[in-house]
Amino acid sequence: MVLQPYLLMCSQVFVALIILGGLVILDPQIALGAAFLIGGAYVGTYLLIKKSLSFHGEVVTQRSRDVQAILSESFIGIKDIKLSALESAYTARYKQINKKGLDSGAFIALSGDLPRFAIETISFGAILLFAILLFTHHIGSESLVSILSVYALAGYKLLPTMQQIYKSLAGISANGGVVLELKANLEVPTEVPGSPNVEQMPGLHSIVLRRIEYQYPGSSGLTLDNVSLKFERGLLNTIAGPSGSGKSTLADLILGLLAPSSGEVIANNVLVDESSIASYQRSIGYVPQNIFILDDTVVANVAFGVSRDQVDLDRVIQALIQASAIEFVERLPRGLNSQLGQDGKLLSGGQGGVSGIARALYRRNQVLVLDEPTSALDIASEHDLMSLLNRLKKMS
Ligand SMILES: Nc1ncnc2c1ncn2[C@@H]1O[C@H](COP(=O)(O)OP(=O)(O)OP(=O)(O)O)[C@@H](O)[C@H]1O
Ligand SMILES: [Mg+2]
Repeated sequence: MVLQPYLLMCSQVFVALIILGGLVILDPQIALGAAFLIGGAYVGTYLLIKKSLSFHGEVVTQRSRDVQAILSESFIGIKDIKLSALESAYTARYKQINKKGLDSGAFIALSGDLPRFAIETISFGAILLFAILLFTHHIGSESLVSILSVYALAGYKLLPTMQQIYKSLAGISANGGVVLELKANLEVPTEVPGSPNVEQMPGLHSIVLRRIEYQYPGSSGLTLDNVSLKFERGLLNTIAGPSGSGKSTLADLILGLLAPSSGEVIANNVLVDESSIASYQRSIGYVPQNIFILDDTVVANVAFGVSRDQVDLDRVIQALIQASAIEFVERLPRGLNSQLGQDGKLLSGGQGGVSGIARALYRRNQVLVLDEPTSALDIASEHDLMSLLNRLKKMS
């Protein structure tokens, strides 16, 4: 968007300088006149529309962002939109955003090309005028033709060159904002993810939370205030509390996904810190409150993140049996190879839930954290899950 126009501009400036250099040698006055006429016209136009260009460049960038947002909003919220009869409101909003952006795109595209026609007319008019002037000064027709040929040829080459320089400059002005934004984003330091080959913590037998406090950035008070807990191997612990009391937050702290504002997480009597967090996290399986289903097969969803050639199919089946998910998977049209659709749209809430549990069981972690795993289950599946957890507890 910016680099190509920039490179083009550099090469064209070089060509323009050579042509102008040649004209200066021939006749400095006329050369300067030509440079002033053509160059000045382009510079004037550029200065006139420079502000509008960067404004419209921003509108175009904003359009991409808004269109993306409104599309994902309407796909995710399609049921709400239909029920509240908001289709026309959404369509109108989409049209408005889209039109504004497309108008600006057209302005940028046209402003690069339009001045050319006017400037070409002026320049060839000038050459014509020059010819008439020479003619009236009684210059011999032979030398008149050769002089005019040189200037016409130079003009013929100089005009597209100047036009290209101008167009490149216009492109840089319009798209410069996006590039600056990209540059700023690229400069944000990203943390290097932990090594993928970290092993589980051997023989994890206890996790202790000691005087944990947690406050979400920007929130006014503590979400967790002085929480001390101990989890031991072979036990099933349940945390209960009203909605918004901080259960999911506590789970995130146990998982090491959030760092406590104060207090410590201790595994096997050792503080979980930067050096041990990777193997600690590797030891814990997690079933989130909202399970994320990949738009892929049952196998890929259970063996989440494992490359296809390394998936252990027996382990997938065992995890599905343990999670009481095998019955519904067998009823799917293509069994284990059935696609589950984006966001698991081909599954019921409960089926998504047990798929998430199968995913956690596939990894064979030593600790399993489940965030309200029964909320989407019917009573029979809830009972099955509780007996599964009790069996797993005894196995550990
Ligand atoms: N990312 C966040 N930023 C700021 N505040 C948050 C964030 N996530 C949660 N909270 C706040 O922290 C509190 C605890 O939220 P949390 O999700 O842990 O509750 P919960 O006990 O899991 O609730 P539920 O039973 O509804 O799942 C809530 O008041 C919520 O508004
Ligand atoms: Mg929660």
